[in-house]
Amino acid sequence: MLTTLIYRSQLNTSCESIGLEAIIEKAKRRNSEAGITGILLFNGIDFLQILEGSEESVVRLYHKIRVDKRHQSVVELMRDYGPRRRFENVGMLLFDLRAESPRSVLERVLRYSKLERYLTSDDRVFKFIQTFITRPKTVSEKRQVFAGEEWQLEAEKAPFGDSLALQTKQPCQFAFQPIVEPSERKITSIEALIRGNDGGSPEQFFQAISPDDIYKIDLETKAWAFSLAERLGIGDHKIAINLLPMSLVNVPDAVEYLVNQISRYHLLPEQVVIEVTENEIISGFNQFHSAIKQLRAAGIGLAIDDFGSGYAGLSLLTRFQPDKLKIDREIISNIHLSGPKQAIVKSIVSCCTDLEITLVAEGIEKLEEWHWLESVGIKRFQGFLFARPQLNGVGKIHWPQPAF
Ligand SMILES: Cc1cc2nc3c(=O)[nH]c(=O)nc-3n(C[C@H](O)[C@H](O)[C@H](O)COP(=O)(O)O)c2cc1C
Repeated sequence: MLTTLIYRSQLNTSCESIGLEAIIEKAKRRNSEAGITGILLFNGIDFLQILEGSEESVVRLYHKIRVDKRHQSVVELMRDYGPRRRFENVGMLLFDLRAESPRSVLERVLRYSKLERYLTSDDRVFKFIQTFITRPKTVSEKRQVFAGEEWQLEAEKAPFGDSLALQTKQPCQFAFQPIVEPSERKITSIEALIRGNDGGSPEQFFQAISPDDIYKIDLETKAWAFSLAERLGIGDHKIAINLLPMSLVNVPDAVEYLVNQISRYHLLPEQVVIEVTENEIISGFNQFHSAIKQLRAAGIGLAIDDFGSGYAGLSLLTRFQPDKLKIDREIISNIHLSGPKQAIVKSIVSCCTDLEITLVAEGIEKLEEWHWLESVGIKRFQGFLFARPQLNGVGKIHWPQPAF
């Protein structure tokens, strides 16, 4: 299937000579062998390349280009399918904005392509080209280049007691995973993740329960999380727990029960954050709304979990604003490589800044992901990179540190 792939990248300034003409000469030959056409735009710092051809050959070439050391911060902007090529007669043409005015580059791009004939102003490929040609170079922006060798991870024991043994008198266990603020080197809260007594996942734990009892047991198990938190000595750290919103609606006096259990284990309501997933809130919003009010009145914090995984996304925030919003791991994964993911997260950051909602990025596994997210203003993170969940305890935390 005819595929068009667009990426942007930045010149690797530590590379002695880019040898642009040589790249293009070789590319012309290789691309025509592989049936690939397209253009490369360069402004002295940034590249924008359009590659078109069969999906297999375009993706194969892109994987090669992506790891080429002559450029860095390679971000895929678009992968789309279409009936015809835009640069049919061109193996690979270079447009160097240092040597030509933006207007003349744009005119030449149009001349070499079929863009002029096909609704140019609505064409996304054309718009990417036009924006690249007319926007300022990234030199004045904060550069988001990640140099892996400049960072290392330093392990530190969490400031809590040792992990506790399996709690045999309980129906469930909890694995604790910290949410951290690496720039301050501090733990901001600890999420208690439910586990079966055999260490099984939350899904397995709830599958074994009769549907009639789900909400009651969901609520009651939180008391065990508070009890473990007290015994671990979490002090004045916050504890985040997951709750089905309908447990607050269906179990009589649910909020009162939570408040009593919080105080029984010598915690404060302000220390507790209840995480509910985006989809659950949306499906039962009207019933859940009065429970939210009760929770807030009791001083308990509220977070939306897995934000961005559902269908309502940002529009949910018009009806309800939580204290915290956790961006779904699916959006976070490999964000340093994906233009669409970056655009979505930037809009979430802007929206939450205006609404004073604290953002947490979850599912961080790579230094590159953390680095990109911090560069757009996210401070709080959760994920295997920093700390794995540990059964009945809090494991070591790994802090990113400059290597020199
Ligand atoms: C900005 C940039 C654009 C490139 N475009 C192409 C291209 O269109 N076609 C191509 O074959 N190589 C291109 N290259 C070079 C490839 O990254 C790679 O060096 C080349 O495919 C040879 O790989 P190989 O010798 O390992 O097979 C480009 C490199 C850079 C830095």
